[in-house]
Parts: sequence; structure tokens; C-alpha cells
Amino acid sequence: MAEIVIVKDKAAAGALVADHIAELVRSNPETVLGLATGSTPLPVYEALRSRLEGVDLSRVRGFALDEYVGIDPAHPESYRSVITREVVEPLGLNPELIRTPDGTPEGIEHHGEEYDEAIRDAGGIDLQILGIGTDGHIGFNEPGSSFSSITRVKTLTEQTRRDNARFFDSIDDVPMHCITQGLGTILRARHIVLLAFGEGKAAAVAGAVEGPLSASLPGSAIQLHPHATIVVDEAAASQLTRSDYYRYAYDNKPEWQGI
Ligand code: F6R
Repeated sequence: MAEIVIVKDKAAAGALVADHIAELVRSNPETVLGLATGSTPLPVYEALRSRLEGVDLSRVRGFALDEYVGIDPAHPESYRSVITREVVEPLGLNPELIRTPDGTPEGIEHHGEEYDEAIRDAGGIDLQILGIGTDGHIGFNEPGSSFSSITRVKTLTEQTRRDNARFFDSIDDVPMHCITQGLGTILRARHIVLLAFGEGKAAAVAGAVEGPLSASLPGSAIQLHPHATIVVDEAAASQLTRSDYYRYAYDNKPEWQGI
């Protein structure tokens, strides 16, 4: 079973996960991180900024989860730009060690395979940070995605384009296609940490954690992972039926286990 940690707010979630990442990098300065974009992971990146004393992130390698197809990499909302702005620059990562899937339309049919190969060559992802979409997607693996999918092009659902329209001038500016790590790619990470905040994510979280394993709710793929940690606030946890047990298990967890 995945471990469910219910925290009081985003800041507590950010602190918990940032502490863990800082520890990981202290023990292995060449840690490979899987980096999510969107609003959800921001508290983690923010909390990491205040934990940089004695933690050198300059040798950390990173792989973003996804990118829009056909977006100018210099566009402020390309995931390349977002990762540079939110993660690479404030945390002092080496930009040359951080990759984003290549969303250039030319040759895109090969970019996914090349990306998975690059992840393998780096030794695999040690810790994959994930958010979850209101339709249950992780990465941009929309409902119906195969559990064994590799990095590839997907068509965004209308719902995801609507959700992401807040980053653009209008929904018409949200790209139709993306290139995303596949569910199979994500499941190869050694540790998955999925975060979710707010009422709007409650149904997706409950489906991912307690629902049946189903390609219709791609987030449920985390149930197949041997080491998955789900960090949610009260609102995102509100549709979980076993939250009392999750709290009890977490409160009584041996300290040495960490997350
Ligand atoms: C982001 C990603 C997506 C988001 C999800 C939630 O790289 O792959 O799965 O994690 O759409 O987005 P936010 O966090 O903006 O609610």
C-alpha cells in the first residue's frame, strides 16, 4: 500500500518533502530527481530554498515530467521555462544536468524513446515528484493511458486544457498536445511522492489511492509501486474512506523509516 500522509496545509507538505530531498542529496549529491511542474510542487521547491545550507544541489540531475508540444521553449509557460524559473535558478541546480522532454514537433516520434534512454543512462530516477490532475492524470497521462506506457506524445483533454488555461491568456493558447513521461516510465522511479491540495483534487486522490486499478484513472498506477508516498492536505483527503487508519499508521510509524 502507498503511504498516505495527511498534513495540515501546503507549507507542512512542502517542509516534509523538502526535508526528505535535502537528506537524500546529502547522502548522494548526484541524486536524480523527477521534477513536476504546475502549482502543486511549488511549496516543496520553496521549502527547499531554506534548506540549502550544507546541501549542494549543483550535481543533482533532474528530469521534468512533461512538456507541451510545439511551444517555444522560451515561452514563459513552457515547462522548460517553468523548471528554470521555479527550480533550477532558485535552487542553484546546474542547467546542463536538468532535462525536459523535447517538445519540438520535428522528430517528435523519437523524442520519447530518447528521453527514457537518457533517464536510464542517468541510473534511473531516485525520487519522482508528482501532482495529480482533476481527471486523475499523472504526468500528462490522461485517462486511458497504458500502465506500461513510455514517454510519448499525448493529446490533452479539454478538462486539462481548461485547468491549465490560468497560465495562458485563454484556453485557445493552451497547446493541444504534450510529450509526457509514460506511466511505465514513472513507475520505474525508485520512490514516488505524489502531492495534492484542495477539494478539487479529492475525487482524483480517492480514486488513485482507494479506487480500482484502472487506466481510466491513471493515478491509480501508483498502487503498483513498491514505494509511493502520498502527501495531501485535509481538503484533498476529504473523500478517502480510510483516513483514520492512514493517520494512525503515520503517527505510529517507526522514526527510522522516514517517508
Ligand atoms: C505537471 C504535470 C501534471 C500536474 C497536474 C496538476 O508536470 O505533469 O500532472 O501535476 O496537472 O497540476 P497542478 O499542480 O497545477 O494542479
